[in-house]
Amino acid sequence: MKHKIIVTGGCGYIGSHTVIALIENNYDVVIIDDLSNSSDQILNRISKITSKRPTFEKVDLKDIQATNQVFEKHKNADAVIHFAAHKAVGESVQQPIKYYQNNLYTLINTLAAMAKHHINKFIFSSSATVYGIPQTLPITENNQTQRPFSPYGNTKKIAEEIIEDVVRSNTKMLAISLRYFNPIGAHESGWIGELPSGTPNNLMPFITQTAAGLREKLMVFGNDYPTKDGTPIRDYIHVVDLAEAHALALKRLLDRKVENSFEVFNIGTGEGYSVLEIIKAFESISGVVLKYEITERRAGDVPQLYADINLAKEKLGWTAKRGLKEMISSSWKWEENLRKNKNQLY
Ligand code: UD1
Repeated sequence: MKHKIIVTGGCGYIGSHTVIALIENNYDVVIIDDLSNSSDQILNRISKITSKRPTFEKVDLKDIQATNQVFEKHKNADAVIHFAAHKAVGESVQQPIKYYQNNLYTLINTLAAMAKHHINKFIFSSSATVYGIPQTLPITENNQTQRPFSPYGNTKKIAEEIIEDVVRSNTKMLAISLRYFNPIGAHESGWIGELPSGTPNNLMPFITQTAAGLREKLMVFGNDYPTKDGTPIRDYIHVVDLAEAHALALKRLLDRKVENSFEVFNIGTGEGYSVLEIIKAFESISGVVLKYEITERRAGDVPQLYADINLAKEKLGWTAKRGLKEMISSSWKWEENLRKNKNQLY
């Protein structure tokens, strides 16, 4: 019998790539998504890539009754992977309530519905933002978490604390939190990728949109950091590698191989690249010269963040297989496909 997995936020950027990895690993997938920042057209793309169409439920998980109903319908699910959340850092600073309401209500309602229906395996989509300003690098999972700069980041930290408490109170519940570093890239088919609404906040979509002529120039936020070229260093991770990490974390839960009922893993490559290195690599891979300008630092940016990835390697048997070249070329292929299709998803 195939395992049935509920993926909340499965139409989003990381969720949709993970759904593909799950289907490829022979799981039955039920996506729950409110489509607030995605399109159900993604389901066509997923079926085109995998030849399977996941079950789709359009539900707002802030609504506890609707959440209970959809979990009642799928109470034979074996596990939940929870992506559904808002993720725009700047917007979260402007509208903290929106972020706390959405990201925490959806989490709490999901955990409550899982308890009610005896579904007791959970994977959470967390972020390296929970480390705040790291004291030592590369950063291990043992580092103290700190209050993140943004309300968005704080919802990730609070969510981990909520999950830990819930796991502690329920002897059957097992949870894994994956702390992502900087996910970029797209599926190699060029059929799914990141679709930022409005002006992108993150570096890679800003770069590809500038190269495609949608933005006049890229602002490089500061070149006076204590790094090799003065620009901040991050650990960029291919979204398909990240998706595969979820499939392995799920297997660990389903095989009951966990050593603790709540486990945390860094998901990065362990390698750091500066903003200028990313720009140069993009130019050489795409053949497009990027217009950019050095501006002021962006509030809340840390100089350097890259992962110690030994724990994921040892316990999940996971390492990133794709390097910077694949990350950049797949991001660019996706952007070019979007332009060819006049920004219509399909
Ligand atoms: C950001 C979030 C982090 C979130 C992650 C999700 C902040 C402070 N942090 O991480 O909480 O989990 O996205 O992917 O927003 N940069 C530019 N110009 C740009 C955009 C970015 O120079 O137009 C630089 C930034 O200064 C940074 C690097 O590029 O050094 C990466 O930025 P970004 O892609 O936004 O990721 P993070 O800030 O690391």
